[in-house]
Amino acid sequence: MEEEEKNTEIVIKNLWKIYGKDPKRVFQTDLRDKSKEEIQNKTGCIIGLRDINLEIKKGEFYILMGLSGSGKSTLIRALIRLIKSTKGSIEINGNDITKMNAEQLMKFRRKTYGMVFQHYGLLPHMSVLDNAAFGLKIKGISKEERYKKAQEVLETVGLKGWEDYHPTSLSGGMQQRVGLARALANEPEILLMDEPFSGLDPLIRRKMQDELVEIQSRLQKTIIFVTHDLHEALKLGDRIAILRNGEVVQIGTPEDIVSNPADEYVSEFVQDASPAKVLTAGSIMSDVPVITYAWEGPRTALTLMKKEKKKLGYVVDKKQTFLGIMTAKELERLLSLEEKFKTIPLTSIEKVESVHPDVIIEELFTIAPKNHYAIPVVDEKDRLLGIITNESIFDSISVDGGNND
Ligand SMILES: Nc1ncnc2c1ncn2[C@@H]1O[C@H](COP(=O)(O)OP(=O)(O)OP(=O)(O)O)[C@@H](O)[C@H]1O
Ligand SMILES: [Mg+2]
Repeated sequence: MEEEEKNTEIVIKNLWKIYGKDPKRVFQTDLRDKSKEEIQNKTGCIIGLRDINLEIKKGEFYILMGLSGSGKSTLIRALIRLIKSTKGSIEINGNDITKMNAEQLMKFRRKTYGMVFQHYGLLPHMSVLDNAAFGLKIKGISKEERYKKAQEVLETVGLKGWEDYHPTSLSGGMQQRVGLARALANEPEILLMDEPFSGLDPLIRRKMQDELVEIQSRLQKTIIFVTHDLHEALKLGDRIAILRNGEVVQIGTPEDIVSNPADEYVSEFVQDASPAKVLTAGSIMSDVPVITYAWEGPRTALTLMKKEKKKLGYVVDKKQTFLGIMTAKELERLLSLEEKFKTIPLTSIEKVESVHPDVIIEELFTIAPKNHYAIPVVDEKDRLLGIITNESIFDSISVDGGNND
C-alpha cells in the first residue's frame, strides 16, 4: 500500500441522497443533471446530496460548511448510516458501510464512531458520570471499568468534580462537555460533530473551541465537524468542504478557501472573514517602549521614561510578570513626597487589562476603549510580551490589511 492510501480513513465515492418517494427516478438521464429546485418541482424528491466525492485522512479535522439546507447534516449522518444513502459508497478503512447488514453495522458503529449533537442529547435523570459512561454500558462493559473510563474522559473535558450532578444543573457549555465526554469514552476512531457549539454563547463557544483543539492535539481523532460559522471553520479545520444544494463546491485548507474562493457562493462566505476575525493580537503587537522594573527606585524609573520621551512604563517583576502601568506623573508625585521610596510602591501601579497573543483582533475592540494605554500582551504565565496600540488595531482592519510598507 502506498503511504498516502494508508493515511486515508474515509473515502466517499459518488454519494447521493435523495429524499422522497421512488428516489431512483432522479437518475434518469433527463433529470439527474437538473437543478435541485427543478427536480423537486418535477418529482417531489429533494436532493440531499448530489454525487459527493471526498477523502478524509486519519487524524484530520475536517469541516463541513454551507448554508442551511446545503446537506451538511445529511452527509454527516450518512457517514454513520443514520441516513441510508441512495447511491454511491462510503468506505471507512476499506469497509463499505453502505453494504453492511444490520448486525455488522451495529458492531461497526460501536467500535468506530463517537457522535456529538447540537442539542446535547443527555439523559436528564442520569448523573453526569452515568451519562458519560452510557455508551460503554450499551457495549456491555463492566460497571467498574466503565466508571473508570468515564471519570477519565470527564477529566479530559474539564468536568472533574461534577460526576454526581445531573445534567440539568449544568450550563450549556458544561452539558456539551458531557456530550463530548460520552463520545470520547468509547475511544472512537472517528468523531462526528454536528454543530456542537451552535447553542452556546460566544465566549463559552470560543472556550470550547480552544479546548477541542487542545484535546485533538492530544488524542488525534479523525473529526468531522459541521458548522456554518466561518470563523469556527477557519480556526478548527485542517480542511474545509463547502456544500451547496447537496454538492461540494470547494475543498481546501482554510488558507486556500480564504485566498482562492472557488465561486461567488464561497466568496460570500469568506467575506465574513474580516481581518478582525482572523488576525490575532500577536500579529499586530509591537515592542514595549519602556519597561519599568518593579525593583527600581522612582528616580531611576523616571529617568528612563524621560530618556525615551514617554509618559509611562509597563511594570514587570523579576519573573517578567506584568504588574501594571506606572506613569511619569505618579513617579513625580512620589518624588515630591517626604517619604523616600527604595522601590516603586505596588499601590502606585495602575492595573490594566491584558490579552494573550492568540486572541483575535475583534475581541480587542471591546478592550481598547476602556484602556487608556496601549493594551499589554502577556503569555500564559502573565509575562509581558508586547503592546498593542489603538493605531495598530485600526491599521489591521483597514482595507489594505494593515500593511503600511
Ligand atoms: N427527512 C427529510 N426529508 C426530506 N427532505 C429532507 C430531510 N432531511 C433533510 N432534507 C432536505 O435535504 C436538504 C439538506 O438538508 P440538511 O438537513 O442536510 O441540511 P443542513 O446543511 O444540515 O442544514 P442546517 O444548517 O439547517 O442544519 C434540505 O433541502 C432538506 O430540506
Ligand atoms: Mg444540519
